[in-house]
Amino acid sequence: LEISSFVAALPKVELHVHIEGTLTPSLRWKLAHRNNVPLPYLTYEALLESYNVLYNHRKEVNGDNGAPTFLETYFAGTQVLCKEEDFYELGMEYLQKAKDMNVRYVEPFFDLQAYLPRGIPAATVLNGYMRAQREGAAKFGVQSNWIMCFIRDEPVEEGIAAYKAARPWAKMEGGKGLFHAVGLASNEYDRPPLLFETGYEMAQRDGLYVTMHCDVDQKDAADHVHEAIFSVCGGKGAQRIDHGLNAVDRPELIAGLKDRGIGLTLCPHAYHRRQKTEVLFPKIRKLWDEGVKFCINSDDPTYMHNIWVDGAMEKVYHYCEMDKSDMVKLARNSVEMSWADEKLKEELL
Ligand code: ADE
Ligand code: ZN
Repeated sequence: LEISSFVAALPKVELHVHIEGTLTPSLRWKLAHRNNVPLPYLTYEALLESYNVLYNHRKEVNGDNGAPTFLETYFAGTQVLCKEEDFYELGMEYLQKAKDMNVRYVEPFFDLQAYLPRGIPAATVLNGYMRAQREGAAKFGVQSNWIMCFIRDEPVEEGIAAYKAARPWAKMEGGKGLFHAVGLASNEYDRPPLLFETGYEMAQRDGLYVTMHCDVDQKDAADHVHEAIFSVCGGKGAQRIDHGLNAVDRPELIAGLKDRGIGLTLCPHAYHRRQKTEVLFPKIRKLWDEGVKFCINSDDPTYMHNIWVDGAMEKVYHYCEMDKSDMVKLARNSVEMSWADEKLKEELL
């Protein structure tokens, strides 16, 4: 699907993109050589081929055919990131790309816990991303507030420890201002949102926002959405939900999202990898017609066929039969759902 000039020119905001999911094969190749990190691919072509990963989260469910799962492929990419400069370059490449797509503000996720076990200090990761945050804003005019994800299939205490290490970089009184929220990502199987309640409470006491992945068609997907709406954060619910498409099947979830004003960050291309066009897009259209607030995002663009946020918006434009004013409304939703400060929001609207 070619990106229309209308979608290309539309001023955009992205709220669901994993910075590690924007690692291009070329940067990965370069960093592997610079840092002497062995790649399990002999040639650049073989590395490129590895990005054609199928959607497959859990071998026990999908069968183990020896091929790496999506998340294994994604976390393998993080191995080449070692020095502050590497994190900085990854951040800058993405922010440059954002500018080129007319994306003016972003809230990228990062996975600090991918690095700590390798002995990389939190400061290395966070200073690198923070330098990109500042320089990206100055050089490309793309503002960003970042989101620290808890890795939900690792022990809760490790997530809490990572959060404590990251705290000096949080956007809070006396903090450096890199990230303003916590999220919840990685393998969702038997890892419901409520497990991380201590982490959300800690972040909320620090004045941060809370969001969490409830990925599509996972085991217990709708129950996870239910928890995220009604149970987490002391029963107040998350402030956004990442994905959450399974709400479409349950009227009480649709009502809960609307009553509580919780928006969904949908990533249509991620779902389109495994759902047919005629199954997927009517669900998104139904949420739209029901008045559930959502915005459109990319998720892990380099590991998802290089479909970035503009491509994701084009899919919705085309397959949900949206008109131009709907698309403008969608772009405004992402501003309204963002946690940019009020002044910046006004500029973006
Ligand atoms: N973390 C980064 N990308 C992810 C994805 N697609 N699903 C779950 N966790 C992730
Ligand atoms: Zn995601």
